[in-house]
Amino acid sequence: MSESTSIHGQWSSRLVFVLAATGSAVGLGNIWKFPYITGEYGGGAFVLVYLGCILLVGLPVMIAEILLGRRGRQSPINTMRMLASAQGVSPAWSWLGWAGVITGFLILSFYSVIAGWAISYAWETFSGTFSGASAEEVGDVFGTLVSSPGQLLFYHTLFMLLTMYVVGRGVKQGLEKAVTILMPILAILLAIMVGYALAQGAAAEGLRFLFQPDFNAVFQKCTEESGTQVCTFTREPLLVALGHAFFTLSLGMGAIMVYGSYMPSNVSITRAALMVVAADTVIALFAGMAIFPLVFANGLEPGSGPGLIFQTLPIAFGQMPGGLLIGGLFFVLLVFAAWTSSISLIEPAAAYLVENKGMSRPLAASTVGGICWVLGIGTVLSFNLWSDYKLFDRTFFDLLDYLTANILLPLGGLFIAIFVGWISKRHLSESELSLSPGLFKAWWFVLRFLAPLGIFVIFLNAIGVV
Ligand code: PFF
Repeated sequence: MSESTSIHGQWSSRLVFVLAATGSAVGLGNIWKFPYITGEYGGGAFVLVYLGCILLVGLPVMIAEILLGRRGRQSPINTMRMLASAQGVSPAWSWLGWAGVITGFLILSFYSVIAGWAISYAWETFSGTFSGASAEEVGDVFGTLVSSPGQLLFYHTLFMLLTMYVVGRGVKQGLEKAVTILMPILAILLAIMVGYALAQGAAAEGLRFLFQPDFNAVFQKCTEESGTQVCTFTREPLLVALGHAFFTLSLGMGAIMVYGSYMPSNVSITRAALMVVAADTVIALFAGMAIFPLVFANGLEPGSGPGLIFQTLPIAFGQMPGGLLIGGLFFVLLVFAAWTSSISLIEPAAAYLVENKGMSRPLAASTVGGICWVLGIGTVLSFNLWSDYKLFDRTFFDLLDYLTANILLPLGGLFIAIFVGWISKRHLSESELSLSPGLFKAWWFVLRFLAPLGIFVIFLNAIGVV
């Protein structure tokens, strides 16, 4: 049998696939979003639910999504159309690919704005702004940044150009190098921050918050209102934990599928998926361990929202020896982590434009990047001029975040699980995965029953039915 490959090229080895997929998975989701939603939803119990979602839903769906990509070897839209026709079901399954493309646009539009914050912080940290700064002064720097549409737009534009550049050149070139060298350095820096936070911060309180489940706190959402903490009952946490499992693993929108389509046939999908999930989870927990001891040591609110890491880490950078260098480097690497994620957000759309519209890669990347850039202006303004315009009590940014992470990605994952578990022939998955019979059965069961049911029940819970 001749080995099939994608017209866009192929990763050179398993290691490269693992690195690229880890590059996609590890990003702002781990270092920016995980700590702040953990803070908002009360800590340990939320973390436990999140870890459960990773293991019981994320991992099995990741294996399924890579598997579809490698069987199809095309952009998710064409892969789904082809695999559906091959199974004798409606080619309308290509809608799963389309939904992924749209979700990717929506996510990248705000992702780029937040990555822009990290660029700005790299600059501020290197130039000494945080040297010896108090928690309040650090908070002011954040406030000034987000209240300036001009600055946000500038950094958003810069980040989007970086993304278009790499996607335009082809995912393989550049990415392989960036991921091999930079991701390990980011992990080391994060480990240094964990060490510092545990030694100098409120270690016991921070770790207790992160790892000691308090189930009473789960259904409470706490926010700070004019200096005092206000907690209200909410049905959201299960959905947010599930949504974040998808977001952080880049699942449910075709990013991992398209990376799977560049995966050589002799590589074990399961082992690769396990490595990606493990790396992603460790980085997120590290980020939590670096941040919460600082939050408590400085009397900050764990539930203070999307600015959390930008209001805590700089305090430490301003105080520790060599902190400005370490901190500057940290934010530079955070930008790289976001960069290796953002390229995977537009790769499904770019691959489609190359395949179906005959565009060159640079043109495809600029078209997609341009659309996301325009959409991103909404997020830029939602932090300042539009901050009072709310729909369902959410700003434009909050709406996008909620819609993508908590609804579109889990729905995408649900349909992937249904397609692989119920529509594709079992033997096709069996031969693609080449697992021992016991392991295959376990995966098959979880994918067919546990994962879809889990997603379904959590959706029902969110709308108040169970
Ligand atoms: N997984 C990325 C992160 O945690 O930052 C974000 C992301 C990338 C989500 C790619 C979805 C995606 F397709």
